[in-house]
Amino acid sequence: MAKMSPMTAAEIRQSFLDFFQEKQHTIVSSASLMPDAPNLLFTNAGMNQFVPIFLGNAPCPYDPARAADTQKCIRAGGKHNDLEDVGYDTYHQTFFEMLGNWSFGDYFKQEAIAWAWELVTERWGFPAERLYATVYQPGEGDPAETDNEAYQFWSEIFTAAGLDPKVHIVYGGKKDNFWMMGDTGPCGPCSELHVNLLPEAELDPQANRTLVNADDPRLIEIWNLVFIQFNSDGQGNYPPLPAQHVDTGMGFERVTSIIQGTKGFTDFSAVGKISNYNTDLFRPLFDELEKKTGKSYTSTLPAAGATPTEQEKVDIAFRVIADHVRCLAFAIGDGIMPSNLGRGYVLRRILRRAVRYVHSLGIHQPFLCEMVNVLSKEMGGMFPELREKQELIETTIRGEEESFHKTLDRGMALFEDVLKESGQDKLFPGAEAFKLYDTYGFPLDLTQLLARERGLEVDVPGFEKLMGEQRERAKAAQKKTVITVDSGSFDAEATEFLGYDHLDAAGKIEAVQNGVLVVDRTPFYAEMGGQVGDSGEVEINGQR
Ligand code: SER
Repeated sequence: MAKMSPMTAAEIRQSFLDFFQEKQHTIVSSASLMPDAPNLLFTNAGMNQFVPIFLGNAPCPYDPARAADTQKCIRAGGKHNDLEDVGYDTYHQTFFEMLGNWSFGDYFKQEAIAWAWELVTERWGFPAERLYATVYQPGEGDPAETDNEAYQFWSEIFTAAGLDPKVHIVYGGKKDNFWMMGDTGPCGPCSELHVNLLPEAELDPQANRTLVNADDPRLIEIWNLVFIQFNSDGQGNYPPLPAQHVDTGMGFERVTSIIQGTKGFTDFSAVGKISNYNTDLFRPLFDELEKKTGKSYTSTLPAAGATPTEQEKVDIAFRVIADHVRCLAFAIGDGIMPSNLGRGYVLRRILRRAVRYVHSLGIHQPFLCEMVNVLSKEMGGMFPELREKQELIETTIRGEEESFHKTLDRGMALFEDVLKESGQDKLFPGAEAFKLYDTYGFPLDLTQLLARERGLEVDVPGFEKLMGEQRERAKAAQKKTVITVDSGSFDAEATEFLGYDHLDAAGKIEAVQNGVLVVDRTPFYAEMGGQVGDSGEVEINGQR
């Protein structure tokens, strides 16, 4: 008998995993959000944990060589960064789950495409005429060739469904249809599935295809099928890998939003209401926020460029807080702690951003920590680490909240004073942004957010100049440290690590010892705790 209500998020997740188990995939656990790869801030894709297998550096432990899972991902910094967009639309999140299936030198494009179609249309019931597939076609200077093979497989599928492939297949260049984890590593052409969410009256597959990849919430990507064939060296070279693999990633919250927001594909009238945030994944967090603030979540979105209304501000705050709590809880659960460095600082920035939104709802004491329990109840079954580490997560978040609440009010007052006194209506002074950072703990992006809300930009070069001077002062005051290299150890100042954001940098050579160069700053990750150091080139006086 047909099910009357659409599937819950938990049922959708399970049905994805069941489907691929039926196709002989081993179901594996999500990897930690703390990546193994030193060039990543956070685990940002399902394929991260399989990189050594793709590169041929580790054997595939699955027989047949296939796997599927749901992977915890954070995209807030580095190559894939969604932080600034969270709150302002229906689909950006910093933390999300990615459902994926993999072949390690086993099946390739034909099966990956056929199974994606089978799951989405037959098992879940997505209407075929609402689907588009994108296929790689390189632009000038882009790697590899047009993916005629993928085009052919999609063409057969759409034709069999009685649909015109010329309408339902859309070509895309490197930006949309060539997937890379970072600047280096396994990569390849990809083919995405997009879903048309326009109401029945506006449904016209031929006319609507211009909305594919147009950043329009009415026609969105749900699944990315990557055909891993190359290993980018970061210098524009893409040598082929020893074998060809499949890496797919489906946005779990997006798929859930479509299935639930259309009431199981029976109602497409609610355009704009089909939102990741209107699902049972976020509802319990919103319930808690409503209980605490007495305000209601009504899922409004600000119009582009317009100043948000009071209710829109509340809805933005609800989305940001709920997203950021999920991000913080899962990251801390995986041992990534807020700090002043690297990924720890990204986390601290996310937390302070969330605190500011909590504050904007009239709550002036720690509250994010109280939401962890709700999350743990909802998701602790699938991700037991949330329950096991709940106390650590709560205490860490509470401590961070307490310390920032202490300076937030005074920082906000300073911000308002500066606006009044400087008379500026375009640029917020870099020196004041630096003072907010240095004295009140306002990360630059928080000041930028506050400024943007008033239609101002922050003078970032002015801020950076003061930051640089502070770094120099700190360095001068720093004690020498012992640097150990293969050829022995000696005293020097610790090398400043510029990784995550930079792949190259200029630096000063501090010492040369038996063929080892010690520099003052470097984007190269050093060998540490079992991780492998980066390799690359040094250019000195024009010589490499
Ligand atoms: N690696 C691809 C992505 O993240 C598919 O899993 O989109």
